[in-house]
Amino acid sequence: MDRSPRARCPVIIDCDPGHDDAIAILFALASQEIDVRGITTVAGNQTIEHTTRNALTVIGLAGHDAIPVARGAVGPLRRSLRIAPDIHGDTGLDGGGDLPAPAMAPIVADAAEYLTERLEPGVVLVATGPLTNVAIALGRHARPDQIIWMGGSVEEKGDVTDAAEFNAFVDPDAAAAVFAAGVEPTMVGLDVTHQARVGPRYQERLRAAGRAGRFTARLLDFYGAVYRQRHGWDGPPVHDALAVAVAIDPALVRTEHLHVRVHTDGPERGRTEVVKDQEPNAHVAVEVDTARFLDLLCSRLESLP
Ligand code: RIB
Ligand code: CA
Repeated sequence: MDRSPRARCPVIIDCDPGHDDAIAILFALASQEIDVRGITTVAGNQTIEHTTRNALTVIGLAGHDAIPVARGAVGPLRRSLRIAPDIHGDTGLDGGGDLPAPAMAPIVADAAEYLTERLEPGVVLVATGPLTNVAIALGRHARPDQIIWMGGSVEEKGDVTDAAEFNAFVDPDAAAAVFAAGVEPTMVGLDVTHQARVGPRYQERLRAAGRAGRFTARLLDFYGAVYRQRHGWDGPPVHDALAVAVAIDPALVRTEHLHVRVHTDGPERGRTEVVKDQEPNAHVAVEVDTARFLDLLCSRLESLP
């Protein structure tokens, strides 16, 4: 995996906003190393109606209404949808405050069509939700340069069941298809994202920043409550923002070239297990430079109006 910092890199974000997805989008929009070509939405943290509206709201807040947003899968390939209102609220962005209604509507093409057309060599896909749209596009022979996925968990306990991280749990069949497609995704899982917690010092910097920074601080207040309750942490992990950070500077994490097996059924549904002595199919992030990540995230968000 190339570990040099990137020049300006064309990126498509497939997401399920969701508090940390929203922060990831703002982070990408604030970073000159990334050229956000488009956003596709998937059901996950909330229903496709909410995740799509939330993506449109966030790009509007950042003044980037011209970025195309394509509405995606209403649910997993084979399973019924599982959403996370206990973490993200009934809107998917609860606590974000009174936000203006989106000025734009989604484009006509759906997410799978958009990804199939636009995931070409040179483009990096950052996926921060269940991989339903991505699996469909890869099945239609879309081939991006790289897929960076926030999902899965190897040594760390899952956040839905002990075995499974949320994005892998919601659509394990899609995750299994992506790992089998020969694209060797970079997996940014709970092993590293649980280190990437935005504590009070950073939250106060953001609260003193511009409109986007203050919005982020409100999101962290709401999103942090469940992590304080469940883990006693003084700041939530911004899982999805770390996936964007890897697109900006791959050296922020150390990865190992491993074979990941996605369990699709039974009590282990959604487990992403590393299987030794099998042909590697992924670059799994195993360490993160937390301080450098948090400083980068915060300074970029502070730079937004
Ligand atoms: O397990 C955390 C992941 O699931 C994050 O992407 C969060 O937004 C949810 O989608
Ligand atoms: Ca997400």
